[in-house]
Amino acid sequence: MVSLTKVDPMSTLNDSFAELFGHRADATFAAPGRVNLIGEHTDYNEGFVLPFAIDKVASIALSLLPADAPRVVRMASTWGGAVVEADLDRMVAEEVTHWARYIAGVFWAFEQRGFTLPGADILLDSTVPVGAGLSSSAAIECAVALALNEQLRLGLTRMELVLLCQDAENNFVGAPTGILDQSASLLSTADHALFQDCRTRESRQVNLPLTEAGLQILVIDTRVSHSHDSGGYKELVAACTRGAAELGVVALRDVAPGRLPEAKETLHPDIYRRVRHIVTENQRVLDTIELLEAEGPASIGDLLVQSHISMRDDFGISSVELDLAVDAAVAAGALGARMTGGGFGGSAIALVKASTAHAVSERILEEFSGAGFVTPEIFTVVPGPGARRL
Ligand code: GLA
Repeated sequence: MVSLTKVDPMSTLNDSFAELFGHRADATFAAPGRVNLIGEHTDYNEGFVLPFAIDKVASIALSLLPADAPRVVRMASTWGGAVVEADLDRMVAEEVTHWARYIAGVFWAFEQRGFTLPGADILLDSTVPVGAGLSSSAAIECAVALALNEQLRLGLTRMELVLLCQDAENNFVGAPTGILDQSASLLSTADHALFQDCRTRESRQVNLPLTEAGLQILVIDTRVSHSHDSGGYKELVAACTRGAAELGVVALRDVAPGRLPEAKETLHPDIYRRVRHIVTENQRVLDTIELLEAEGPASIGDLLVQSHISMRDDFGISSVELDLAVDAAVAAGALGARMTGGGFGGSAIALVKASTAHAVSERILEEFSGAGFVTPEIFTVVPGPGARRL
């Protein structure tokens, strides 16, 4: 074990890497977290999503070991702790802790696809808040996947890397998530949201000119943290799968809004509410894109609020903190607001006129304080570029 206490947080990632591992890194890569503008829990129902990459990233410095060196991945982070080791010939998820599991999972997923990787040294840094529903885990996976693909010239497309990272998340980490987070991190471009059809996996960039429109998106991190490898998320996936089976469709994507009255008659009320969220949310994604393209971002506020209400009342994944953040934002003049990400805590977003951002933030802070909740972190995000070599 190597102690990380010597790493100077002010030095660059490369310097820290050299100090820790005793040799220089071959390259550095970064991959962003994401905010989902709209389209929640629709990804694993083969529906539509509209996320954007944020200007907060996971960065890695890495060096690949020579082919005759042991096939061991040594992983460290700038926030300290011991170096974690994973033997590529004996990968056991349970033996790799938290953030290192996302790195190891990507190595595992490449090997599952028949690639034989060399050992590596990796130092991770991240500015994506953990457990805030902003995809800090996907950011790590995507940075590692892109780095291995490029450094080893493996020739996978970005979409193939999305699926590889999802495989790592589903089958190594153990969270049955869709492709939203990894697509946002790998396929986004600056100043755009990414519209993706999660069935065909086709995607296109949708212009999101916030600054030009005098707008900002605030993230309100409630600091009530969540995890998708535990119960709640899995139960939602199961409820959706059951709804689709009982309606005789491959996925809830195939349920047209016009079928909802019939679905209400036949489904258990709890399943029906989940189905209704997915069906109406898919339609809201399409409506959001239409409005964005016809009238610009100031026009989508109501759809964001409707999406939040649907997640709160139908899908049942909001929390008192998220509801308060949304209500306070709207009461203080936000054009719209909604919880974002998987739910059960995490973050809300608020679309605000730049001139009102301060007042909206103050109001949210006051209401949280009045309710006796933990003080939220509030910050603005801009649609940034996808994963890249630094
Ligand atoms: C998490 C998952 C995504 C998606 C969202 C909800 O972020 O990782 O695949 O299902 O929740 O939209």
